[in-house]
Amino acid sequence: MKRILFVDDDQNVLQGLQRMLRAKHQEWQMDFVTSGQQALQFMDQQPYDVIVSDLQMPGMSGIDLLGQISERMPHVVRIALSGQADRQLTHKMVGMVHQFLWKPCDPDTLKASLMRACSLSDLLENHELQAVVYRLQYLPTLPSLYIQVMDELRSPNTTAERIGEIISHDIGMTAKVLQLVNSAYYGLRQTVSSPAQATALLGLETIQNLVLSLSVFSQFNQAKMAQLKLDGLWDHALSVGYAAKLIAKLESADRKAADYAFIGGLLHDVGKLVMAENFSARYASVVDVSQNQDLATVDAEKQVFGADHAQVGGFLFGLWGLPEPVILAVAYHHHPAAAQEVSFTPLAAVHAANSIAYQNQAKARFRQPELDEDFLRHIGAAERFPAWHKACQETIFGVKRA
Ligand SMILES: [Fe+2]
Ligand SMILES: [Fe+2]
Repeated sequence: MKRILFVDDDQNVLQGLQRMLRAKHQEWQMDFVTSGQQALQFMDQQPYDVIVSDLQMPGMSGIDLLGQISERMPHVVRIALSGQADRQLTHKMVGMVHQFLWKPCDPDTLKASLMRACSLSDLLENHELQAVVYRLQYLPTLPSLYIQVMDELRSPNTTAERIGEIISHDIGMTAKVLQLVNSAYYGLRQTVSSPAQATALLGLETIQNLVLSLSVFSQFNQAKMAQLKLDGLWDHALSVGYAAKLIAKLESADRKAADYAFIGGLLHDVGKLVMAENFSARYASVVDVSQNQDLATVDAEKQVFGADHAQVGGFLFGLWGLPEPVILAVAYHHHPAAAQEVSFTPLAAVHAANSIAYQNQAKARFRQPELDEDFLRHIGAAERFPAWHKACQETIFGVKRA
């Protein structure tokens, strides 16, 4: 049984939460305490999977509490329950808190967040990799794009559209902005699917603070990532993003689905960055194994780590509260059938786009990941693939080939 601890100095809030979650009593053990000190005592006595804490409390603040927990028990999912007065704080906490919920929280959002937090280990079972992801605060940001965003923010004529456009070229900034806007912001009932929309909602000042705090990570260790050929990874991420978006547009007029396909494509291989940054020597042997045994990278990772980059990425974005279609597209981009979908979704777009992108690599160093034709047949899209392929060749990869 999963264990969840709720912390709020206001008894009414705790009672409200208790009422909202009454139906979940069979599934989760839930404890409710009124101070940070009490929370730490409870957590010393028994392990918890998730903590949901108010931010402003007398004595130990929620920020101190969650900070201590991130140090001492990093494998606990940390959710901040924030109020009106905390808006200024959210960007400061975005590295320390996995998700934000807004008070008063509607029951469906609360249950969905908790259910996802409690089922995260389905996405990635490897504890060693889990531990790394729980501690991860930021993803790499390309210094050149970081400078572009900062320049644009200083310009008096800038617009949210323009900033969002630059952000959408960067893996680290996109992931962080969507994490903040989807989980923190601010009582929104709908999920936000594009960096431009996120920028407009968060406001330029918050974006600026957020991007400034990301600079800490922009000097990430390039040497450790040598095996990954970072520029190639960025290029690949962007082209899969554009290709997936194009495919989604060919299949439906749903603008959100196209945005999710783009974000899913942009972020699909982020797990590789996480693995290479934190286990550089072992990731080097992934490269050896894939070359020596003629395996696709994803299969070589499985052999070396017992888990692959898609699982690591899915787990990370589940933890950060990104929209569900993005999590699924990332987590299952190599094994789409495992997601058990029955119709076209952003996952199908990303899976197909990834395959098309690999076909366009001039000389592949590794065995290419396979296109799952059975899956495409199963969702009724097999006969659409040639049209997707043609459109991607003409509008995305054609330019590069010329
Ligand atoms: Fe991949
Ligand atoms: Fe890929």
